[in-house]
Amino acid sequence: MNASFRIQRFDPEQDKKPHYQTFEVEVDETDRVLDGLNKIKWYQDGSLTYRRSCAHGICGSDAMRINGANALACKVLMKDVGNKLTVEPMLGFGIIKDLVVDMEPFFNDYRSVLPFLINEEPPPDGRERRQSIEDRERYDDTTKCILCASCTGSCPSYWANDRYVGPAAIVNAHRFIFDSRDRATEERLDIMNEKGGVWRCRTIFNCTLACPRGIEVTRAIGEVKEGILHSRTTP
Ligand code: SF4
Ligand code: F3S
Ligand code: FES
Repeated sequence: MNASFRIQRFDPEQDKKPHYQTFEVEVDETDRVLDGLNKIKWYQDGSLTYRRSCAHGICGSDAMRINGANALACKVLMKDVGNKLTVEPMLGFGIIKDLVVDMEPFFNDYRSVLPFLINEEPPPDGRERRQSIEDRERYDDTTKCILCASCTGSCPSYWANDRYVGPAAIVNAHRFIFDSRDRATEERLDIMNEKGGVWRCRTIFNCTLACPRGIEVTRAIGEVKEGILHSRTTP
C-alpha cells in the first residue's frame, strides 16, 4: 500500500519552530510504522531523526505520537493506522531534533524514586533473599516497565507541572515499594508523598491507555497512594 507520512520536523540549527513534512512511501500492511520511517530515512531523507534500537518492543526507545497517541513505532502495524498518518514527538518533553525528545528530565524523575533494591541486612542463608510466589506476584505488573515514557508523555498533569515525577517514575517506585525483600519502603513512600509525587495524579488514565507493556499504571499509582495513607494511619 502507498502511505502518506506527515511528520513533524525540527532542526535546531535551521528552524525557529517545528513544521510538518509529508513523505509518500510504499509499505506492506503488516509493516510497522518504524519500517515506514526507516524507508523514508534510508531512501528519501537521511536527515530524518528518531530513536530506535531493538525494533521488537523491548528497548523502549521509539516512543512517539502516532495519530495523536503515544506508542512504540515498532509495535504499531500500518494496517491499524491506515495509509494517512501523522507522526510527532511526544508531548511534555523538549524537542532535540525531529522525533527525538530530551529524556533527561524523565530519567531524573526515575532516579529520584530510588529504583533499586535497598537492603543492608545479609541474606538469611548467606546467599540469596528468597521470596514466596505470592510476594513476587505482588509487584509483577510493574516489573514489565521498559522506560519508554509513553505514559509520562501522555499525562496532562505532567504537561501542566514538570515538578510532577510522572507515572513512569511511580510505576518504578511501586516495583520496589511492594517488594518484600526491600527495606526502603518508608523512604520511597515519603518521596511519593512530596509535592511532585502521587497526589499530582488526577486519575486521568491516559498513562494506562498508552503503556505498550499493558501495565495497569493508574492502578499502580492508586496502590502507592493507598500505601502512603496506610503507613500514615498505622502505628
Ligand atoms: Fe513505558 Fe509503560 Fe513503563 Fe510507562 S509504565 S514507561 S508506558 S513501559
Ligand atoms: Fe496522569 Fe495517568 Fe494519573 S494520565 S493523571 S498519571 S492516571
Ligand atoms: Fe526498541 Fe521499539 S525500537 S522498543
